[in-house]
Amino acid sequence: MQTNNNKITTDLDLTVQLLKAGAIVAFPTETVYGLGADATNPAAIQQVFAAKGRPADHPLIVHIGTIEQLTLWAKDIPATALQLAQQFWPGPLTLILNKQPQVSSLITGGQDTIAIRMPQHPLALQLLQRFGSALVGPSANRYGRVSPTTAQHVANDLGAAVAAILDGDQCSVGIESTIVDLTGNTTKILRSGAITAAAISQLLQQDVTVMQDADRNMRSPGDVASHYAPLTKVLLLTQEELSTQAATLVQKFSVLSFQAKPQNLNDHIYWQQVARDPKNYAHDLYANLRKHDQLQNDLLLIERPPYAPEWLAILDRLTRASA
Ligand code: TXA
Ligand code: MG
Repeated sequence: MQTNNNKITTDLDLTVQLLKAGAIVAFPTETVYGLGADATNPAAIQQVFAAKGRPADHPLIVHIGTIEQLTLWAKDIPATALQLAQQFWPGPLTLILNKQPQVSSLITGGQDTIAIRMPQHPLALQLLQRFGSALVGPSANRYGRVSPTTAQHVANDLGAAVAAILDGDQCSVGIESTIVDLTGNTTKILRSGAITAAAISQLLQQDVTVMQDADRNMRSPGDVASHYAPLTKVLLLTQEELSTQAATLVQKFSVLSFQAKPQNLNDHIYWQQVARDPKNYAHDLYANLRKHDQLQNDLLLIERPPYAPEWLAILDRLTRASA
């Protein structure tokens, strides 16, 4: 499927002009591609919700190009926020803070808090700095579906809805930013990502709670059990379960496994052996899910990664993809 490829561009000036005119534009970040719109333009923000098919009460992340902009959007900023920003920005970390009163409730889904991050991708930073103000930027996919990690992924999903897709090649991280809530008495991780709870805890010299689904009270779309979901049904299996299923299933399936394809398995079954380290796994994850989806099989069998802190963000995405 190669549609709307004519929207893909590397022209920064054009992209800035379109944003200033109130259009929505996809842009690369180090995590996933975002669906950008002027964060001070309510009509443009509304277009973002419409393009994604996202419910209005699910808030957006505001992307800034300089740390100084933080105070335009957030108030009562705790010292911990500045410590985290200094250490991890620009980078795959989103902070939840109390919002400034003038911030549109369209962005925050009616909440008093706001999500903010400064992305690391050089094109994202250049775009934000030339634009001069902040951009809202949800992942540039339809609500509930797999996030895009290339410009082509965006063209396939939302090409018709955006004015342009700024091409920044493959996203280096590959999964969405870590979200840290700093508005309560304790520091909470609402969404796991490349920056781990351990790294945050070590920097702040305090305990960090990683929120479980039940506690999260559905404040983020990432919280909805079925999210990041391919169209093909996904089964998340242990190595043993996977071997048994692969040998006995009658449905059409493909496989994502740490193991090599067994010798005795039917030749036409697509079996992909994946990286054993979480960084490479995350980098390829969404492109892999999309590739398997295109095969239009009945099932995708995925070998479950180990329950270890460095795999937490990936386990979270895989669990939701299989829900
Ligand atoms: O890596 C990322 O964060 C990417 C790139 C494009 O920057 N963006 C992204 O946006 O993943 P999105 O909209 O797909 O996910 C943002 C998450 C949602 O789960 C949203 O509900 C949550 O952030 N969020 C936004 N504002 C919030 C708030 N005030 N309180 C709690 N969660 C919030
Ligand atoms: Mg998303």
